[in-house]
Amino acid sequence: MNALFVTIKEKIDGEVLDAAGPQLKVVATISVGHDHLDVAECRKRGIRVANTPELLTDATAELTLALLLCTSRRLPEALNAVRDGGWTKWSLTWMVGPGLADATVGIVGFGRIGQAVAKRIKPFQVARILYSNRSERPNDIGATRVTFDELLKESDFVICCIAFTPDSKEIFNRSAFEKMKKTAIFINTSRGGTVDQAALVEILKEGRIRAAGLDVTTPEPLPLDSPLLKLKNCVVLPHIGSATIEATNAIAEMTARNILAGLTGDRMPGELK
Ligand code: DGY
Repeated sequence: MNALFVTIKEKIDGEVLDAAGPQLKVVATISVGHDHLDVAECRKRGIRVANTPELLTDATAELTLALLLCTSRRLPEALNAVRDGGWTKWSLTWMVGPGLADATVGIVGFGRIGQAVAKRIKPFQVARILYSNRSERPNDIGATRVTFDELLKESDFVICCIAFTPDSKEIFNRSAFEKMKKTAIFINTSRGGTVDQAALVEILKEGRIRAAGLDVTTPEPLPLDSPLLKLKNCVVLPHIGSATIEATNAIAEMTARNILAGLTGDRMPGELK
């Protein structure tokens, strides 16, 4: 085997590389996230590695918005009520949730996806968009860089778009959630590993924040007896951030191109540097 075409579900480590054999030249993942690949180990063995950046930015940003609105406006709860007879009469305060207009939105991780989310949030007439990121990201959206702690304290909506690395592992822990407003909504479309999930369950149970919307969890799929699935104030999606027809076709093609270029020694469109 000369090349591996992998998804986020395949962990590529030294053991897999040993099994693949010394003729392996390329590992290409059909994803932007590459935390499932031991890139250093691949490099050590002279194996080229590629992912599919950019092509799923729009899809993931759209899903982030959809999940945010689904969570804040309680759409799953409302749909269930229509279906199970919980909708008995119209009532003024039933199913109310916070709006985006005049809210402060904080985006943790302001790379391509974070910025694409900010662009889509702006037309909702939010008061402020804050972001935390290792470096300043000049932008024409009017988003302001603040510290992680400031962002947690100030935001009505906290959106996690940060890449999953050892540095971002469980940055959303109990102490981070405790810094958030009691009325805040937490959204995660990055990776489940950025969250201490047990702490999130407790925080949601205690009503210490208003709600959470998660497209990513640990593990995936989430077991049916997960406490997250029992909480009314938590919306869980099955990691469908990039699942538009357009993005899926585009990343499939790019992964094939990455492999062909990798095998012929040409420039790979998504080579991980
Ligand atoms: C990615 O590409 O990293 C997305 O999370 C979809 O898997």
